[in-house]
Amino acid sequence: MKNFYITTAIDYANGSPHLGHAYEKVLTDVIARYKRLCGKPVYFLTGLDEHGQKVQQSAKKAGVSPSKFCDEQAEKFTEMCSKLAISNDDYIRTSQPRHVKVVKEILQKLFDKGDIYKAEYKGFYSARQEQFLQEKDRVDGKWPEIFGEVTEISESNYFFKIRQYQDWLVDFLDRNDDFIFPRFRAKQVKEFLKEPLNDLCISRPKERLEWGIELPFDSAYVTYVWFDALVNYISAVGYGTDEFSKNWPADFHVIGKDILVPPHSVYWPIMLHAAGIELPKSLLVHGWWMSSGEKMSKSLGNIVNPLDLVGKFGVDAFRYFLMREMNVGQDSDFSFDLFLTRYTSDLGNDLGNLLSRLLNMGKRYCGSKVPAAEVEGDFERDLKELADATSGEVLELYEGMQFHTALEKTFNFIRAINRYAEQRAPWKLAKSASESDLAALNSTIANMAEGLRLSAVLIAPVMPGVSERILSLLGAEKAERFDGNAKWSGVLAGKTLGQQEILFPRPAAE
Ligand code: ME8
Ligand code: MG
Repeated sequence: MKNFYITTAIDYANGSPHLGHAYEKVLTDVIARYKRLCGKPVYFLTGLDEHGQKVQQSAKKAGVSPSKFCDEQAEKFTEMCSKLAISNDDYIRTSQPRHVKVVKEILQKLFDKGDIYKAEYKGFYSARQEQFLQEKDRVDGKWPEIFGEVTEISESNYFFKIRQYQDWLVDFLDRNDDFIFPRFRAKQVKEFLKEPLNDLCISRPKERLEWGIELPFDSAYVTYVWFDALVNYISAVGYGTDEFSKNWPADFHVIGKDILVPPHSVYWPIMLHAAGIELPKSLLVHGWWMSSGEKMSKSLGNIVNPLDLVGKFGVDAFRYFLMREMNVGQDSDFSFDLFLTRYTSDLGNDLGNLLSRLLNMGKRYCGSKVPAAEVEGDFERDLKELADATSGEVLELYEGMQFHTALEKTFNFIRAINRYAEQRAPWKLAKSASESDLAALNSTIANMAEGLRLSAVLIAPVMPGVSERILSLLGAEKAERFDGNAKWSGVLAGKTLGQQEILFPRPAAE
């Protein structure tokens, strides 16, 4: 069976890991874990984009070779992945021989085919964006701030004939409505394609840039960093070998909205089509984390270091916040206050409190053995009905990438279990000597445990550690599959509950 193949963008090695990078990895990880829980074999790729002028400059500033610089950066980025509990199967670095080889093969193929030509180029160049500019990029006669210093240059370069594929691409996008998710993002691409494309300059003379992949047909040049970087998606999974079809075509390339147009929606499809390679099935385009209305980015200096929050509140709380707050595709404002509110109310007061109450009462009234649920009154019927509705809806919402709503529904259910405990009031039932009250007490504990078990299964893609911990405290196995687990059942009867544990301690005052 072909793997469900999912990728993130590969992070630029010149910066430090920030909230945007963390979010993209967590989002992709949640999808990967969800698919595995559905029983699909998954291949999850992430990595580092190492070449280009900015990296060369940063290395120079740091007084080390670009390759040494990238080794250090790779360590930071992979450390972030492990602290975020990212379950990637592979980590590609564009300096690796497996990647360099494939970039050269693709270039040679397109060159032999006549899709790449050499020409003199005169014009304006932005070093910060590593791109050639056109008159239409000026705003009120000036180059916008984002381009940094712009210089006029004249040099010979190699160009990829993308213009001849424009009609094909427009037609492809028209016929494949689901290529870009969410769909509204496709508008921007279609808008861009209304203007004739310029052929893409895919080389940089070595005198200007050394840190790159040498063109296989001209050793005086290296490859333009985007042409190089995009190829990671196929080089990592053995393009040119029998292994390739195990993963390719990718099911999702997960990317941020700033790199949709033109790299992922124009260059990449055309590169693949020209090279005779099948296109990926879909681009999943997420929005930006903002800080008071501005994109968090290295150049703006308003970056939240994700690892600080992870260290303080735990990785699952952090992952919960990211998935609960961001509607995939939209932007979201990051605020520490909001984070704290989610942490104390959803995680502490709702989920943490439910666990804590259950362990407490289970110990006090049932000797920490989960009883069988024998009584079924209105409260029980309501709770089970909500459980069935919730599990069905939540799985559908995951499938449709509506993670924020999936979590909202799950936590509504968790609150309903807490309400159920208050309605039944085991502490009152325990004072009674009647057999029916005792049976009701036992059933209450059993149903609280089962509701919590179901909730723990449903949050597993987002909070894998917390899910496993709760299940273990309930005497249940870690959720490997939704199938058989994501439904109300009586599996916990007779299991032994663990010792009291506080999952989300109140943060110490600063
Ligand atoms: O673009 N909020 O690398 P990168 C959400 N190397 N996502 C954000 C973000 C924010 N504030 N800031 C950045 C590159 N991102 C290229 C990709 S792929 C073949 C090459 C996202 O380190 C951004 O949208 O600048 C991108 O998807 C990813 O982080 C890496 O950004
Ligand atoms: Mg960027």
